[in-house]
Amino acid sequence: MHVSLRIQRFDPDRDTASHWVEYGLDVDPMARVLDLLHQVKWEQDSSLAFRRSCGHGICGSDAMMINGRNRLACKIRVDQLGRKISVAPLPGLPVVKDLVVDMDGFFAKYRSVHPFLVNDDPPPAQERRQSQAQRAVFDDTTKCILCGACTSSCPSFWARPGYVGPAAIVNAHRFIFDSRDQGGEERLQILADRDGVWRCRTIFNCVDACPRGINITRAILEVSAAIVEKSA
Ligand code: SF4
Ligand code: F3S
Ligand code: FES
Repeated sequence: MHVSLRIQRFDPDRDTASHWVEYGLDVDPMARVLDLLHQVKWEQDSSLAFRRSCGHGICGSDAMMINGRNRLACKIRVDQLGRKISVAPLPGLPVVKDLVVDMDGFFAKYRSVHPFLVNDDPPPAQERRQSQAQRAVFDDTTKCILCGACTSSCPSFWARPGYVGPAAIVNAHRFIFDSRDQGGEERLQILADRDGVWRCRTIFNCVDACPRGINITRAILEVSAAIVEKSA
């Protein structure tokens, strides 16, 4: 099958602005966009820059905008997209080169919500126990792979880059509702800030973009409700 793959290119050493370059490729309909990018890099232009690692939807490194939607290049196939495919870097983040964006700000926001277990009690002899029901409360938000597809698809984030964004809230949720954790109050205080949960306008782009199917909006609303409850 012949496809036309348009890639948004930008080389900081040569270009003043990004531009589209079109590549013609003969591919298997079951090939993934990541395979197509490799094909271009290996057969047509070795200077093409993109991130990838696992190739199987686990590491979160190859999120990009494909045919107008944020997705993982390793999870979307040609037969799902058609003969005309366009690939651009994640929107709303500074482009380093071609499809590689600067994720430093994204990870700084992630770190700002203390995405780790806080518990100052002495460790028990075996383990910190938790019932299945207690685990189920935050099961959905444990699935995040930090790909950035949600935050970079959020119009509230585009309008106000200081907004902590859905990915950071998802990862805060994962610990706020963990019965073993003691850092929830502090996280809620951080997210009650003007750039915290109240910036969410329930636009739902984040839910559409998430390759892990996480119900991000529900997580944001649960965190918002916990903030209201705490301040009541
Ligand atoms: Fe990616 Fe989903 Fe995590 Fe957002 S919540 S960073 S879209 S896995
Ligand atoms: Fe943005 Fe998602 Fe809220 S797209 S506005 S974080 S529902
Ligand atoms: Fe790891 Fe796609 S390469 S998620």
